[in-house]
Amino acid sequence: MRTNIVHIGAGELTYEIRNIVNVGEKLQKLGLKTNWENIGDPIAKGEKVPDWMKEIVVDAVRQDHTYGYSSTKGVLTTREFIADQTNKLGKVQIDAEDIIFFNGLGDAISKIFGFLKRTARVLVPTPSYSTHSSAEAAHAGHSPLTYILDPNNHWYPDLDDIEKCVKYNPAVAGILIINPDNPTGAVYPQEILEAIVEIARRYDLFLICDEVYQHIYYNGTKTATLAEVIGDVPAIAMRGISKEMPWPGARCGWIEIYNRDKDPMFSKYLDSILNSKMVEVCSTTLPQTVYPMIVTHPEYTDYLLKRVKRYEKFSNIAYECLKNVKGVLVNRTNGAFYMSVCFEEGILNTSQVLPIDNKEVKGMIEELVAPEDTALDKRFVYYLLGATGVCVVPLTSFATMINGFRITLLETDEEEFEKIFSTVAVAIESYLNS
Ligand SMILES: Cc1ncc(COP(=O)(O)O)c(C=O)c1O
Repeated sequence: MRTNIVHIGAGELTYEIRNIVNVGEKLQKLGLKTNWENIGDPIAKGEKVPDWMKEIVVDAVRQDHTYGYSSTKGVLTTREFIADQTNKLGKVQIDAEDIIFFNGLGDAISKIFGFLKRTARVLVPTPSYSTHSSAEAAHAGHSPLTYILDPNNHWYPDLDDIEKCVKYNPAVAGILIINPDNPTGAVYPQEILEAIVEIARRYDLFLICDEVYQHIYYNGTKTATLAEVIGDVPAIAMRGISKEMPWPGARCGWIEIYNRDKDPMFSKYLDSILNSKMVEVCSTTLPQTVYPMIVTHPEYTDYLLKRVKRYEKFSNIAYECLKNVKGVLVNRTNGAFYMSVCFEEGILNTSQVLPIDNKEVKGMIEELVAPEDTALDKRFVYYLLGATGVCVVPLTSFATMINGFRITLLETDEEEFEKIFSTVAVAIESYLNS
């Protein structure tokens, strides 16, 4: 090429959650039985979509208007419905114009970071759901700027670290919060959210809060939505249907904008995001059309509650299985459906292995971990996959230096779930003692 056609941030775009699937699929072909605990898709893990929900979708499919484009911001009646729900919390007042639909939050995330001025940075958590950290880093053409989530303090944000990062880096324009969090499964108390809002207010920043797991928290934890704590700070909340309904294949999520009028630059930035959606025309119409009918259906609350209760039960099974394993630090999951397990510092090395009976599988794993720069937790994850068929994601692929792995709590069969976590516990011990 006579001109370099590669974007400055191209190297920042990685998504190990799906990369590892390629490896798992190759191993499946070699006869390995695989448990996919790497991806946050409840449907793929056997969640049954209730008949009443399917009936609502079927009725909508019979109506011609659901086949058409919707307005750029999204279906008006649905946006009015959502604005009403947020206003009922009694803290912020928004209307349908403050809501924009996207083709899933993945789409919203790439636009929110993609239309930010290159030199303006958003501080993201470490570890971080990699779609956020990669998109932010790609926009800047630099590795992400991060604040610490502390595994020794329930994975809560380290407020001093946030303040330091903001104070000493004038390029920081905003802070990202994910609550409940992926990949840690943490749920933040209201006071922590208020403290972050206060930092944003003091340093004239905007906030982004990803609330895709908004109603999925348990074990007696209490939290608040951004709308309840934001006061007059400019902010964006992100919500969607992928996890709660759950309908990830619909590719449907939205942003709610708070306090747009408080800062003309924030308002102009949001115009650019809206204009980019306009150039694209609009987002998928069908899931937006059915959203209010589904969440107000008399069986919806109970349906969601049952799932939340199962995650609660399974979070405790997972914690009991792993909490006494030597060499790792685990926190009980209190929200979303992920658990992040950390290896003690310095405990991993390049001579540790797990026994693998199948010669071809063994050969493939050895080849995969051969490169000298293979992260130590990735090495463990490959051995775990080859030896047990359990597929998890290395923690270092979530914008962190902490070695560990993320595992989902989505398996619906309790016996199988217990088997998976006991297998992982035994595998960790065997790997660390090999
Ligand atoms: C925190 C978080 N935000 C956003 C998403 C993506 O949501 P969507 O399916 O709407 O693109 C995920 C998916 O796992 C997530 O964990």
